[in-house]
Amino acid sequence: MKHLFLFLVEALAVVAFDPLTFVDPLTFVDPLIGSTNGGNVFAGASLPYGLAKAVADVDGQNTGGFATDNSNVTGFSAMHDSGTGGNPSLGNFPLFPQVCPDDSGINSCSFRIGDRKVAYNNGSVVSRPGYFGLTLSSGIEVDMTTAHKTAVMRFSFPSASQHPLILLDLTDLWQSRQNASVSVDPETGRITANGTFLPSFGAGSYDAYTCVDFFGSGIHETGVWVNNRAGTEPKELFVTRGFNLFYLEAGAFVRFQGNSSTVTARVGMSFISTDQACRNAQQEVPDPITGFDSLVKTAEDAWRQKLSPISVVPVGDGNSAGNVELLTSFYSGLYRTMLSPQNYTGENPYWDSGIPYFDSFYCIWDSFRVQHPLLTLIDPDSQIQMLHSLLDIYEHEGWLPDCHMSLCKGWTQGGSNADLLLAEAYAKNLTSPHSPRLNYSLALEAIMNDAENEPLEWSYHGRGGLSSWKRLDYIPYLDFDPNGFGTNSRSISRTLEYSYNDWAVSFLSRSLDRPQSEWEKYQARSANWQNLWNPTQRSLFPNGTDTNFTGFFQPRYLNGTFGLQDPMTCSAFSTATPFCSLTSNPSETFEASIWQYQFLVPHAMDALIQLMGGDSSFVDRLNFYFDATTTYTPGNTHLADISNEPVFLTAFQYHYAGRPGLSGQRIRTFFPSAFNASNGGLPGNDDSGAMGAFSVFAAMGLFPVGGQDTYLITPPFFSSVSVRHPVTGNTATIKTKGAAGNNPFDIHGRKDVYIQNITLDGNPYSSSWISYSFFKNGGTMEMTLGTNESDTWGRAQQTRPPSWTTTAGSSSSWMVSPQV
Ligand SMILES: *[C@@H]1O[C@H](CO)[C@@H](O)[C@H](O)[C@H]1NC(C)=O
Ligand SMILES: *[C@@H]1O[C@H](CO)[C@@H](O)[C@H](O)[C@H]1NC(C)=O
Ligand SMILES: *[C@@H]1O[C@H](CO)[C@@H](O)[C@H](O)[C@H]1NC(C)=O
Ligand SMILES: *[C@@H]1O[C@H](CO)[C@@H](O)[C@H](O)[C@H]1NC(C)=O
Ligand SMILES: *[C@@H]1O[C@H](CO)[C@@H](O)[C@H](O)[C@H]1NC(C)=O
Ligand SMILES: *[C@@H]1O[C@H](CO)[C@@H](O)[C@H](O)[C@H]1NC(C)=O
Ligand SMILES: *[C@@H]1O[C@H](CO)[C@@H](O)[C@H](O)[C@H]1NC(C)=O
Ligand SMILES: *[C@@H]1O[C@H](CO)[C@@H](O)[C@H](O)[C@H]1NC(C)=O
Ligand SMILES: *[C@@H]1O[C@H](CO)[C@@H](O)[C@H](O)[C@H]1NC(C)=O
Ligand SMILES: *[C@@H]1O[C@H](CO)[C@@H](O)[C@H](O)[C@H]1NC(C)=O
Ligand SMILES: *[C@@H]1O[C@H](CO)[C@@H](O)[C@H](O)[C@H]1NC(C)=O
Ligand SMILES: *[C@@H]1O[C@H](CO)[C@@H](O)[C@H](O)[C@H]1NC(C)=O
Repeated sequence: MKHLFLFLVEALAVVAFDPLTFVDPLTFVDPLIGSTNGGNVFAGASLPYGLAKAVADVDGQNTGGFATDNSNVTGFSAMHDSGTGGNPSLGNFPLFPQVCPDDSGINSCSFRIGDRKVAYNNGSVVSRPGYFGLTLSSGIEVDMTTAHKTAVMRFSFPSASQHPLILLDLTDLWQSRQNASVSVDPETGRITANGTFLPSFGAGSYDAYTCVDFFGSGIHETGVWVNNRAGTEPKELFVTRGFNLFYLEAGAFVRFQGNSSTVTARVGMSFISTDQACRNAQQEVPDPITGFDSLVKTAEDAWRQKLSPISVVPVGDGNSAGNVELLTSFYSGLYRTMLSPQNYTGENPYWDSGIPYFDSFYCIWDSFRVQHPLLTLIDPDSQIQMLHSLLDIYEHEGWLPDCHMSLCKGWTQGGSNADLLLAEAYAKNLTSPHSPRLNYSLALEAIMNDAENEPLEWSYHGRGGLSSWKRLDYIPYLDFDPNGFGTNSRSISRTLEYSYNDWAVSFLSRSLDRPQSEWEKYQARSANWQNLWNPTQRSLFPNGTDTNFTGFFQPRYLNGTFGLQDPMTCSAFSTATPFCSLTSNPSETFEASIWQYQFLVPHAMDALIQLMGGDSSFVDRLNFYFDATTTYTPGNTHLADISNEPVFLTAFQYHYAGRPGLSGQRIRTFFPSAFNASNGGLPGNDDSGAMGAFSVFAAMGLFPVGGQDTYLITPPFFSSVSVRHPVTGNTATIKTKGAAGNNPFDIHGRKDVYIQNITLDGNPYSSSWISYSFFKNGGTMEMTLGTNESDTWGRAQQTRPPSWTTTAGSSSSWMVSPQV
């Protein structure tokens, strides 16, 4: 880590010398942020959206492969997901190097994971965009880089190692392998393998293929291994799952000629065939030994280009520790948002529509809120390709996914949130010179399919309970639903999400000039969330003390009677059920409490505020929610859970009550305590870059309302931020005046956090929000900051961000967004 720090200081010297000089953003990317403490990030080498993602795999927190948790290395594999929760993802066909203690006895080497795993040397880990390396405690140094579908891994054995061995294991991180085959060529040492594996958070199975060639040494001997025994005959192996799905460890191995120092493995991957895996590798990396450095450079250039749309000027002295940490957290967060979804073009075994194919939408429940809005800003070309892919999936699988990984359908967490991505793309007029315009008729068809047709199995696509939704206008608690099957919980969070999803249907329908009866129908349904509001419900602390708020969402039976879920259940304030997922404590709210979900009506905030008794009651609720702390659950003391996505927008919702200053103040309380530049510097799963995108937007000072064309304005953590739109080439700049202390990473940085007034291209700008056109057309937004909350800016009703309903139950000015 020491040498990384020197890098940073060097680069910052440039900032201090000339704040406007472009600083290489790569210097600030530390892929190890979030590599422990549950961030689950992929910390290895990858191209932007690359299929090949090479890293060491460990036996500790290995959801993303590697972790800096001092666990042991079990292998080195070439495919991963990033930041996901639950079961570890991919990690297929790991290689593992060793030197057999008894050179003449192959069985003196260790084959099974439990036998072969080994620690890595502390301080040996080097991770930067396009490159990952470490030294095993066995003395073997391993480093790697990637092309798009190929990893190149170099294994440097201690000098005078006799006949070093590299094995390939027919497994993945989760040991989900079903059938698999491997074959090793005794002349060339080439290992080809295939296997059937299970998706880490989805249904069905997928087949993966690899083709490994070795360079830099002659072959001594080859063979296969099963369990803890190996032999030089046969050269092929087929494994299956037998009695009780018994799992057998097995694979192939190659030993190299004596005293070889470095063996380079070229690992081609495919989801189509081993032939294609070999072809991918040969085409992408014709010469892995001499080509290694240029692959690293290609990756660095690709990342540099992806990160280049945003440039920042830190406040004051660029060399301050606070700025180093802010820049590192910022650019690393930006970097992580472009690891997934992954570009699987040419690797989809089920169809080829002749357009790019993306997978690892893992999951849209996480990514619609901020990750995709960030891509819309800095990489619209890729975002539009991803949306084309979603529509492609709809056309071939019959449904838009809410989650998709490893070519399989992933489990739906709440609503059908791809609906929001498509509506937002329309609202922002997402275009790219390199892709056709999205077919919005098709998009409307796809999202109306979500809203109208209940699938038999709604755990992995569509929505459940639609007949009740249409008949009762809410998702009932303990619904009777003979039409489809799914995890029959989450009636409150599903009602809220389906309402917002139906808003998206209505928005797109109206935008496309569809019949009024059509969009009015969905407009009416988008108000369904109100039907779960129990105006008399109260919320008590676990010790029985009343929090003194009246009115909460509650589960509601089919007969209309309210049931009861303690508003604090599924939060740290509940000892019995601090966490509620699909499988652990399934409840009427998903992964968050009613206290959290009460704010999640992003399309109808003014109606919600009225329901809660007006602006000041709403602000009281927000303050209570964020300030309440407890010691009931060790390590997790807040009612508000910053480690999960539902809270993201909530921290900014003071804007809707005319108090945007409080959003800017509130958001700073999470930096650097929850988001920082340490290896444990994320509060929870990064979820394919969702946490990264959150920290980027918070620091930029423009926070997106996922699904809408709205950015909420807060003071940036920088002196200025510029965003060059990659399609139009125009630059939007946000500048601060009077900002001595707006960087929360600086101990003096919690001072000037209130916007006094704003000018846009020289003219006063009174709204507390702005639309995507600012980025598309470019411009200069200048904000004057101060130490006290302004009593004018962003307060008046007409300056607040758009709500799409005016009063609860009324829809008179629905769809008419306030004009700037
Ligand atoms: C790593 O493996 C070694 C050898 O098997 C073992 O002694 C050690 O406890 C392991 N470390 C961890 C953190 O599991
Ligand atoms: C690395 O450091 C940790 C403590 O930070 C220690 O537990 C572990 O044993 C060390 N590993 C090695 C290989 O030295
Ligand atoms: C490998 O190195 C060892 C120790 O230096 C030496 O004894 C042996 O002859 C070498 N073997 C080959 C094949 O070069
Ligand atoms: C595994 O192989 C067995 C035996 O060839 C076959 O019956 C079974 O269908 C295969 N299963 C999978 C998941 O490929
Ligand atoms: C895997 O390879 C074996 C041996 O070549 C072949 O018989 C089998 O069909 C392949 N399986 C898949 C899923 O491609
Ligand atoms: C994905 O890969 C395909 C095929 O190489 C390419 O045409 C497309 O531009 C890539 N998409 C992105 C966003 O890089
Ligand atoms: C959307 O963008 C395209 C391409 O820039 C432009 O031609 C079109 O006029 C825009 N549509 C709207 C409604 O702004
Ligand atoms: C767009 O989608 C609609 C609905 O599926 C289809 O009828 C139409 O042909 C598509 N348009 C284009 C240009 O592909
Ligand atoms: C009950 O718990 C809340 C929250 O921890 C605390 O503020 C309050 O003082 C407690 N009341 C009593 C009577 O202990
Ligand atoms: C709720 O109101 C009661 C009565 O006014 C008061 O005693 C109590 O302290 C309040 N509770 C909280 C948490 O503010
Ligand atoms: C409604 O149904 C619930 C659950 O079955 C039941 O407890 C409640 O008494 C019913 N309410 C009425 C008014 O029938
Ligand atoms: C903005 O606020 C500052 C500080 O309150 C004030 O000096 C300045 O005149 C204001 N500018 C505009 C354009 O209102």
